[in-house]
Amino acid sequence: MSKPLLLIDTDPGVDDALAILMAHEHARVSALTIAAGNVGLAHTVRNARTLVDLLGADTLVYPGCQTPLVRMPEEDAVHVHGTDGLGDVGFSEPKAVVADEHAAQAILRITREQPDLTLVALGPLTNLALAVRLDPTLPQRVKRLVIMGGAVTGLGNTGKIPAEFNIGFDPEAAHVVFEAFPMFDLVDWEVVLRHAFNDGEFNAWLAAGDQRATFFEKVFGTARAFNAKRGRRGVIAADALAMAVAIDPSMVTRVEERHVAVELDGRLTRGATVVDWTARLGQPANARIVMAVDQDRFGAMVRAALGA
Ligand code: RIB
Ligand code: CA
Repeated sequence: MSKPLLLIDTDPGVDDALAILMAHEHARVSALTIAAGNVGLAHTVRNARTLVDLLGADTLVYPGCQTPLVRMPEEDAVHVHGTDGLGDVGFSEPKAVVADEHAAQAILRITREQPDLTLVALGPLTNLALAVRLDPTLPQRVKRLVIMGGAVTGLGNTGKIPAEFNIGFDPEAAHVVFEAFPMFDLVDWEVVLRHAFNDGEFNAWLAAGDQRATFFEKVFGTARAFNAKRGRRGVIAADALAMAVAIDPSMVTRVEERHVAVELDGRLTRGATVVDWTARLGQPANARIVMAVDQDRFGAMVRAALGA
């Protein structure tokens, strides 16, 4: 099977980092377009460059929007990813260059130049929404869109109970994207929790000695401690699961096609992904909601990306 060609929009971010390692191991990476989200854009751009240096890759890094489309975010994720977004390990200034083109423009140009791309969205959808507003024909030339985001039965992970972080950070952007793309693959927070890795198994991968494993063990400290404090069991890697689905969709074992919308105004629910589970409103499905994947194949993909 030839390696898929991916354009990754991301807010690195610890789990973004693992997903980016996976992409460079198992796929061809056209570009990294960078969003603000987990931490501010200056950090997320720098973190992407750190990862490109680690991998010795020539992947270009395109900086995106510094803020959400409309309203300023109510929270970031420094409590999970550290102040710098990579576990506050203190990496030196990376060498990888920052491209002199905005992420939204890069998405439009690259998808024109490489029409069989899979777009993988691992952070807030600000850049993608801006690209769609600049050129509404974008969805027509994208082979697949895979989004990590949402909580399809309201079990979110932010200060708004039903909202997941990527959608909740920029709900208007998510609304634009969900309305513009006729169909996308949705890897939500709830399926991520169902596919956490066993701690012992993951620790064995980290002990493999590969520089990628050593790197990830260093950056993973803050997120792992936070999840443990939250009583979350196992190793949770949201973006890694979305990346696995993007690289090898055949690993998906259960999917539900439904219409998904984004709540923009609710005092308690802004950023929630609202699924019409019984198709009651008769709107066409716009999302293939990933409900389950083959855990062994997911694990094998992550393990290989860590050189284990
Ligand atoms: O809710 C999980 C998502 O929010 C992941 O993409 C993580 O990196 C954060 O951006
Ligand atoms: Ca992310």
